[in-house]
Amino acid sequence: MADWSIIYNQWVPKEQTLREALCTLGNGYIATRGAFEETLAEDDLHYPGTYLAGGYNRLTSEVAGKQIENEDLVNWPNWLPVSFRQPGEAWFHISNVEVLDFKQELDMQHGVLRRFVHFRDSKGRESKLNTRRIVSMANPHLAALEWQLTPFNWSGEVELRAALDGRVINSGVARYRALASQHLETLEQGQYDEETLYLVVQTVQSKTRMAQVARTKVYLSGQASGVLPQTKIEQGYTEHVYKLQATEGQPLRLEKSVLLYTSRDWATSEPLQDACANSIRQGTFEESLEEHKRAWQRIWNRCDLDTACNTKVQSALRLHIFHLLQSVSGHTVDLDVGVPARGWHGEAYRGHIFWDELFIFPFLNLHLPAITRELLMYRYRRLNEARSAAKAAGYKGAMFPWQSGSNGREESQVIHLNPQSGRWLPDNTFLQRHISSAVAYNVWHYYQATGDIDFLSYHGAEMLLDIAQFWSTIATINQETGRYEILHVVGPDEYHTEYPDSEEVGLNNNAYTNVMAVWVIQKALQLKEVIGDSRYQELLTKRHISPDHLTRWEDIGKRMYVPFLEDTRIIAQFDGYDQLHEFDWAKYRVKHGEAMRLDRILESEGDSVNKYKASKQADVLMLFYLFSSEELISIFQQLDYDFRPERIPENIAYYEQRTSHGSTLSKIVHAWVLARSDRKRSWTNFETALMSDLEDIQGGTTAEGIHLGAMAGTVDLVQRAYTGLEIRDNVLWLNPVLPDEMPCLNLQLRYRGHWLELKITRDKLIIKFDRGWSKEVKIGVRGEAYTFKTGDQKEFDIRR
Ligand code: BGC
Repeated sequence: MADWSIIYNQWVPKEQTLREALCTLGNGYIATRGAFEETLAEDDLHYPGTYLAGGYNRLTSEVAGKQIENEDLVNWPNWLPVSFRQPGEAWFHISNVEVLDFKQELDMQHGVLRRFVHFRDSKGRESKLNTRRIVSMANPHLAALEWQLTPFNWSGEVELRAALDGRVINSGVARYRALASQHLETLEQGQYDEETLYLVVQTVQSKTRMAQVARTKVYLSGQASGVLPQTKIEQGYTEHVYKLQATEGQPLRLEKSVLLYTSRDWATSEPLQDACANSIRQGTFEESLEEHKRAWQRIWNRCDLDTACNTKVQSALRLHIFHLLQSVSGHTVDLDVGVPARGWHGEAYRGHIFWDELFIFPFLNLHLPAITRELLMYRYRRLNEARSAAKAAGYKGAMFPWQSGSNGREESQVIHLNPQSGRWLPDNTFLQRHISSAVAYNVWHYYQATGDIDFLSYHGAEMLLDIAQFWSTIATINQETGRYEILHVVGPDEYHTEYPDSEEVGLNNNAYTNVMAVWVIQKALQLKEVIGDSRYQELLTKRHISPDHLTRWEDIGKRMYVPFLEDTRIIAQFDGYDQLHEFDWAKYRVKHGEAMRLDRILESEGDSVNKYKASKQADVLMLFYLFSSEELISIFQQLDYDFRPERIPENIAYYEQRTSHGSTLSKIVHAWVLARSDRKRSWTNFETALMSDLEDIQGGTTAEGIHLGAMAGTVDLVQRAYTGLEIRDNVLWLNPVLPDEMPCLNLQLRYRGHWLELKITRDKLIIKFDRGWSKEVKIGVRGEAYTFKTGDQKEFDIRR
């Protein structure tokens, strides 16, 4: 790894699908895995997936005698194919040659994927192949590649082909392969002019249409070859083949630029027409590359985290920012899509949207809030569906789905395959009702970072009120204790979905869920002061929220139940947690390592993880992650619980010993909650989170899609946890304590319409306040608030 690049110096077939995911190029509209141009999804080594942000389709499959409908992120036609052959011989494929030298580089600064291969074929002919590829950040509809072959010790006739391949299915995730996978049908295909091929496909159920138009130009020794291609058209596949004379040492270069348009675009007439019209307007590869580089330059100018004093951290952080902004970017605005847990980088979790937004939004809020706003609008536009879901379950307000896709319906799978046992099992993780609180939390924190009162009063407030109303109606009063409870839900820890040997699904009083519900209700009540009485009343009337409802909210805000372990000061993950068995971690770690999927392991042994005090991920600790200790203590005080800050470390230690980190989100939370109390342990957790995808620590999952929550979470740890950034009482507070391993940090932040620059070392904090568009703002350093105006710069001594 270099500062700005991920470099692979060897061809290692078994790492290829992982590298493909890590080398995915995207622009917030479309993404293509880093597969080689000559490969198809022909074996488990290569999977050239192309995904459209929000491009879903539903199919019904028969599994274990049941009809199951799933909504998948569709794998669209492969626009990459390019290869060559000597007449009568097989097409070049990396697996069929002897690789003499190899280098692949993901250049994150410029958003370019490069490959160099020096190879020898079975007849002793050696060639050098250089490729470069972009998915344009300047024009979201454009993807382009340059492919150059130089004969090293031979001359002769060659055939060069460039194609569009729509014969693809969804087969990127082995576990889903028994399910229906044919999402596309071909509508139109052919040759538009001598340089141009087109292919139009449509999803069979959602009827989303995509047109791809590929323009190819071939150059011999730097000059346009003038050779006209032969066209081959098969169902779903169009190809141009150029017959050329290759000369030893003389490069044979092909440029392919592909325009992708869909029926979901705005400012469009018809996808094929628009793709063709724009294809003609395209310049050379070099010209497209220049525009693309400039677009990345603008992004990096604002979004880089410069930690030059630790290069390993530096490049991993850049990789994470890079993939985050390839998944959601300025081009995502107005697309009506959410941010997928696994990026648009593979088919894992079917491209669905989860609560991972909680980990993703903070970076965007403080850099590119227009994107957060859009992602919140994705939720707002699905409010009606969330209301219907609440109603169908017997509640009021809005109940957002645990997994969301096209229209906001619950997309969680009802059964899942345990690859370890081969059994299909019921999946009750959809009972994670806490997702709605994540939406509310994100609305509030977007507002805190931006001061966007228009959004809050128009859209955000309605979501907050509806979510509060949901919590108020799902909560029931326990007549014996006089406290409110939330029953039959699942918390963030997905290993616990029911009580051992119980017929019912769900658990009672997940502490995280209950506390979050209280927080949402309190914020929904506070909203009145923020958006004003008249708008508040307007919304209450609109949402049929009566004064009696508000009285109940207030009551819940004081009398929600939070479970504690008997005789201890530890918050219980849920009611009855103390009845569970301790788990023999040592025994299982020997065989299965650290990040164990205990649910799968134990089920395959005929046991159940539900029986044990063993969590997949941070659950109770989420409270210390999302709230400052002051905020949390104040919630507990209002609930009349005596919970003190000094108990937080005990709680952390208790759950740390009982967590397998089977979700990459978990290490983020652990790194965060330890950031001040145990900096060494915080750092080790941070380092593991940082390497989650680069080193594929979950053993094979990254190849199916990156973990965007963990990626964004690490960036946010640096941005907020290690800088002590917190927005409270209209002040942006900073209290930096940099880890010893990362003694310097430079970054920019966008706060309430202003850009500010922070330069932090162990001793010094410099805040430079750039021009902004809102009024002056207050920035607090170690307890004291200062007013900053355009052009101000202040320096603080932060020695401990
Ligand atoms: C985790 C969830 C997460 C989901 C998507 C699961 O493994 O348990 O918390 O939302 O992955 O990233």
